[in-house]
Amino acid sequence: MMDVRVNVNGQAREGRCPPRKLLVDFLREDLGLTGTHVGCEHGICGACTVLIDGEAARSCLMLAVQADGAEILTIEGLMKDGVLHPLQEAFREHHGLQCGFCTPGMLMTALDLLRVKPEPSEADVREGLSAVLCRCTGYHGIVKAVQAAAGHMKDGRHA
Ligand code: FES
Ligand code: FES
Repeated sequence: MMDVRVNVNGQAREGRCPPRKLLVDFLREDLGLTGTHVGCEHGICGACTVLIDGEAARSCLMLAVQADGAEILTIEGLMKDGVLHPLQEAFREHHGLQCGFCTPGMLMTALDLLRVKPEPSEADVREGLSAVLCRCTGYHGIVKAVQAAAGHMKDGRHA
């Protein structure tokens, strides 16, 4: 067993797990952060995406021990003081929530996209989200939501 110490959503957390445990399983099972979902478990669907040291990463492709010392942001960390993040608001307003299963990965990927490209075109958003798979409905509402959130975040209207 190995000790793993991380900062998750602004809080110091630690656990003890086997060296082969995936980060996504550590987040869900050891830290109780079940908002990060597990889909394919081999880096294809994007459902498990979190931010590690500020960049989007697939937590099913990383061992928990590899994240030791890292700063991690999960979907649970988006809401601040009871106020939804502009991306969450926009997903709600523009019907981007859809199935809900892929949504945490969509939101975390979109957050990273807007960090790199604060004013993305529709094509940028579609490309940026193309590695998070939606197989239920389509990307129309999701793309609209990310573009709407970009506008709000640019105006500084976010927590
Ligand atoms: S569960 Fe990680 S990419 Fe699908
Ligand atoms: S919105 Fe989740 S699979 Fe389509």
